[in-house]
Amino acid sequence: MSDDDAGGDPAARDPADPPVALAAYEALADDYAAKAPTKPYNADLERPATRSLLPPVEGLDTLDAGCGPGITTEELHEAGARRVVGADVSPRMLEHARDRVGDRADLVRLDMGRPLPVADDSFDLVHSSLAVTYVREWDALFSEFARVLRPGGVLVFSTQHPFDDATRLEPADYFAVEEVTETWDGFGDPVDVTFFRRPLEVTLNALLGAGFRLEAVEEAKPTERFRERRPDAYDRVRRRPPFLCLRASLPGVPDQ
Ligand SMILES: C[S@@+](CC[C@H](N)C(=O)[O-])C[C@H]1O[C@@H](n2cnc3c(N)ncnc32)[C@H](O)[C@@H]1O
Repeated sequence: MSDDDAGGDPAARDPADPPVALAAYEALADDYAAKAPTKPYNADLERPATRSLLPPVEGLDTLDAGCGPGITTEELHEAGARRVVGADVSPRMLEHARDRVGDRADLVRLDMGRPLPVADDSFDLVHSSLAVTYVREWDALFSEFARVLRPGGVLVFSTQHPFDDATRLEPADYFAVEEVTETWDGFGDPVDVTFFRRPLEVTLNALLGAGFRLEAVEEAKPTERFRERRPDAYDRVRRRPPFLCLRASLPGVPDQ
């Protein structure tokens, strides 16, 4: 059999490959944990938009997928969630999450690019901020989110806006899902961060294909505090929103 008819996706991940962003987030973790709670792009742009999509969480069992240093993990607990699980692939991020949440949340190390080590029907809400972009296979990931959610369960997530990525990166083929590496210097020493750029239709169809109904869309807009703290960036992010935030739910009625 020639290579050509060997079948399979040539871009598919070898089981031995580490997650594409693991090394970057291990390197970024300390600076990220120190800065993300107040950094304008997070605190005054992405988080308010994503948070505005959350349902009332009181009494819910919740998963914060790609929780990083546990900022939203802590907020879910403080908002009255019955159970909060924070999950991330970076051990150093999970150490910071532990410092932040103590014993108020369970913390789990997992790779969202693999089947989640979580039982079916475990949660009422999955929240994920700026983390799914590091996983290539969104059909599989959103099917996993659907599996671990109960009937009527809600998924709220944010990701890089496909139009901003396409404008900045000028891909040769907008419709391709492609691995991209950029150097970030916004958190301290420059770090190469690898993620997957994808078109809008892949973003939405992965969600719909996993059985979710799209409920709400926010193209994150900067707050007044962002304008005060980052006047240099305000007009740009108003014109070209960097983050896309979505709420979707599964059919069915949640158990009371
Ligand atoms: C931009 S940070 C966001 C952290 C947090 N959600 C927040 O908003 O502050 C991205 C997070 O995704 C995590 N991550 C990257 N790839 C992952 C994967 N394959 N599985 C689980 N977590 C992953 C990183 O370790 C990092 O903590």
